[in-house]
Amino acid sequence: MPNEKPKFYLTTPIYYTNGLPHIGHTYTTVVADTIRRYKRMLGYEVVMTTGTDEHGVNVERAAKNAGVPESEFVANMAETWRALWDELGVPADEFIRTTEVRHARTVQWLFKRCRENGYIYPGHYTGQYCIYDNAFVTEAKPGENCPDCGRPTETLTEENYFFKLSAFQKPLLDFYQKNPDFIRPESRRNEMISFVEGGLKDLSITRTTVRWGIPVPAEESHVFYVWFDALTAYLSAVGGPEYERRGFWPADLHLVGKDIIRFHTVYWPAFLMAAMLPLPKQVWAHGWFLMDAAKMSKSKGNVVLPRPIANVLGMDAMRYFLLREVVFGQDGNFSYDALVQRYNSDLANGLGNLASRTAAMIEKNCGGKIPKPAALQPQDTALAKQAQNAIGEVMEHYNKLTFSRALEEIWALIGATDKYLTSEQPWSLGNTEADQARRATILYTTAEVLHIVTALAHPVLPESTAKVWILLGQPGQLGSLNLDGLRWGQIQPGAALGKSQALFPRIDKAEAIERMEAMENETPKQPVPAATSNAPASTPGAGSAAAAAAPAISEKIGIEDFAKVEMRVGLVKTAERIVGADKLLKLTVDIGSEVRQICAGIAQYYEPEKLIGRKVVVVVNLVPRKLRGVESNGMIVAATVGPEGRPVLASFTEDVEVGARLK
Ligand code: MSP
Repeated sequence: MPNEKPKFYLTTPIYYTNGLPHIGHTYTTVVADTIRRYKRMLGYEVVMTTGTDEHGVNVERAAKNAGVPESEFVANMAETWRALWDELGVPADEFIRTTEVRHARTVQWLFKRCRENGYIYPGHYTGQYCIYDNAFVTEAKPGENCPDCGRPTETLTEENYFFKLSAFQKPLLDFYQKNPDFIRPESRRNEMISFVEGGLKDLSITRTTVRWGIPVPAEESHVFYVWFDALTAYLSAVGGPEYERRGFWPADLHLVGKDIIRFHTVYWPAFLMAAMLPLPKQVWAHGWFLMDAAKMSKSKGNVVLPRPIANVLGMDAMRYFLLREVVFGQDGNFSYDALVQRYNSDLANGLGNLASRTAAMIEKNCGGKIPKPAALQPQDTALAKQAQNAIGEVMEHYNKLTFSRALEEIWALIGATDKYLTSEQPWSLGNTEADQARRATILYTTAEVLHIVTALAHPVLPESTAKVWILLGQPGQLGSLNLDGLRWGQIQPGAALGKSQALFPRIDKAEAIERMEAMENETPKQPVPAATSNAPASTPGAGSAAAAAAPAISEKIGIEDFAKVEMRVGLVKTAERIVGADKLLKLTVDIGSEVRQICAGIAQYYEPEKLIGRKVVVVVNLVPRKLRGVESNGMIVAATVGPEGRPVLASFTEDVEVGARLK
């Protein structure tokens, strides 16, 4: 069909359901969404797949801990992930769950094809297994920890099917050679080439030690190994065995973090070669977002959640930060401080300010209509030239996925326009005909730059650029604009400005950080068990005034749950205020066995000096976390009183020994 749009298929990893989404996962999904929007603006029909990886020992364990069947646990978690992507404006076109029937069919079909082609054989395997990474760790000896995640490994022997990965050493090296762009960036490509050159061992692809997985056809005691299962999800999402009908396979781009590059660039193409299926065109491995120089993980307690940022600063601010702050492919540090800094300097003072002052000046001086330019002066043509050049350069950067460079270019143009306005001073021109003509030219030029900036920044800042588009009175949906046709001079003089809308209001840094941290601390970091139908209901019609004022008592727990919380008597040794955090005090507290640093949100109600020497109740076995950049290793127990939630410290009327446990 001559009018058919070209197709583009891209994927994020299929995320594990034993954890909750954090900013690291959000990063990959936001990048995928940005590419999707960009490709759509170039006229592609795009499918973006994301989903959930729901099988394996970890899920079995997590479901057991939550006290629910695996199927219920994963359904709940998959919904959490899907709902978050929808809420953040990065919804999947195809959301694939590895527990879906369409997926099981594809995995079994892929296995059969590999087997028929002679690449599968039965055998035994004994080795060290890392249950966190769901992988045998060939480098580790019994008793040693996993070199990737540092957790203990387990020795495991089992009967399983092997995939002849060793047969693919040469085909893979040939493939990398013929397709130099298959692995990006170059450093990862070199790493993978040396890995494959070092020799490939056959791979066990089924398990008899795991129950929760896709059964191997005619071998009911075996289920598929998580990577044979998970990678195949990319194909299941676009038709599986009938992939040709939808026309989206092979994938154009698999986006992954550097942690899983080997699975995607060695195992996955080998499986597909063995099954004689087309290979994906590119795998792009980006770096990690680090928190305090370490990869985020829930066991370290250093994860940053996306929702508080989206709620306080807006989703566009988060997208901008993720793509601007770090060179795509490299690791980068996450900090709230840098995030709010960028928000205020680049978004509020940069794009937001340029848009609102341009609109205000056109409103005031040109009757709210884009003015017609008069004779151009060299400074007008210079800015026009810079904008015209930026179009090509920014698109080139998007094509190469060098997002931070693309944004630098766009913001350089914003900066140049700010300078242009400062030197041309349209506001100090008078009412003579010549002055009016000059002002019209300046404001037209500024509006035109804004038009180009808006179109170019749209893939990264979809919500706010759509608002600027309306503000500029431009017709149609910005997302459907053809970027290939973007040129200087397309804004129509005479077009009436649309309704002005709030764009990136300036925000007080300390307050923004406090709000985000407070929301973050309120959110559970571990999967919460699905609500079950026999959950106890709160007592109806409780009569007393006290009962009416206090919130209903939540679901009952067993004594074993309470026993998990370790509370001890502590003695406050020092107490001080934290600069820039009105509500927090930094305390050092002796808990008997050691002296801990703890931050407490009581600064508005307790004088630090008066706390020294006071005995308090401390929860001592919480994962440490940072509050306003200060480590807090424990929590002081307080009652919450009155409508403002005033904290009142728990205390004792009798003398108690420091370190005594509360039961
Ligand atoms: N289920 C596997 C992937 C199977 S794909 C067929 C998995 N899941 S995961 O939930 O652990 O997600 C890993 C991916 O999340 C990384 O590859 C990366 O895309 C993203 N990130 C997780 N933490 C991250 C950071 N701290 N920084 C950047 N990206 C991170 O592995």
